[in-house]
Amino acid sequence: MSDPTPIPDAAVEAATDAALAAVTEASTVAELKAARSAHAGESSVLAKLNAELRNVPADQKAAKGKLVGQARGRVNQAIAAREAELAAAEEAAQLAAETVDVTAVPSRRRLGARHPLSLLMEQMSDIFIGMGWEVAEGPELEHEWFNFDALNFDEDHPARAMQDTFFVDPPESHLLLRTHTSPVQVRALLSRELPVYVVAPGRVYRTDELDATHTPVFHQLEGIAIDRGLTMAHLRGTLEHLARQMFGEEARIRLRPNYFPFTEPSAEMDVWQPNAKGGARWVEWGGCGMVNPNVLLAAGVDPEEYQGFAFGMGIERTLQFRNDLNDMRDMVEGDVRFSAQFGMVV
Ligand code: PHE
Repeated sequence: MSDPTPIPDAAVEAATDAALAAVTEASTVAELKAARSAHAGESSVLAKLNAELRNVPADQKAAKGKLVGQARGRVNQAIAAREAELAAAEEAAQLAAETVDVTAVPSRRRLGARHPLSLLMEQMSDIFIGMGWEVAEGPELEHEWFNFDALNFDEDHPARAMQDTFFVDPPESHLLLRTHTSPVQVRALLSRELPVYVVAPGRVYRTDELDATHTPVFHQLEGIAIDRGLTMAHLRGTLEHLARQMFGEEARIRLRPNYFPFTEPSAEMDVWQPNAKGGARWVEWGGCGMVNPNVLLAAGVDPEEYQGFAFGMGIERTLQFRNDLNDMRDMVEGDVRFSAQFGMVV
């Protein structure tokens, strides 16, 4: 043997080369960890060679110590350098993976939006607000007295029959789902100071089957004006203003005699719709009349001093003829593709 010492130079060199090669080859932090324990750990060749120093003759101790120490130093340095490299690479990979492309097309989530019936009620209410009226609401679960008695319906009026009205159990409660928004007339008079100028949009119920022109749940807009000296001319003017705001300057209204227990005289109101799709036409729009003195009395208003008018129209029906819709069922099904046609207003 050319080098009979316990720490041959060639062995140190070979162990160092092997260690450096393993460190260079490590391509992940885990592989580097394995390389460290194999080549720089306690049971590594270099550690064992180092342990042999105590068997080295005194005159060679310094030289061998330096040799092994430098070898171990090189290996540890290489490990530290490689570790920094791998950490930097890993960080770069993570940053690349987390990159946000701010120019990418966003995935759009459709916003919910108001239903055209709500928008229409709001539009109509706004027209009255513009004339100084107020908006009122009443309960949908209503007492029979407000829905019928106070509105001058006879005990045996056919509208009270089971087949038209959803009565609510138990019968002694006299509760029902209001069949029209007219009970709000009485509520408005009872809760406000005179004069009263109020519109009441809201949901109403009748025992109709759902078909193209009926739905058991629908909406109306009620109006009531009670003041000194109001006449049928004020009713006409008010409704004509509404018609023009909604259907253009060419719009007109027409009244035809009719009967409602709560108005006298009563009329059916038609609107001349100049911009209808198939050409200008008259359309039945709602009911109206001068508030019956019996209703005023029920609400504690002196009919000798105060008079006024009331009207009510269906919102579904208004939407149907305004927008030339054939099937009322589209309005209740809640398909967003239907609502979207009317502009998705939030
Ligand atoms: N409430 C009536 C209906 O539902 C409409 C109406 C309201 C008529 C006010 C006259 C006055 O048909």
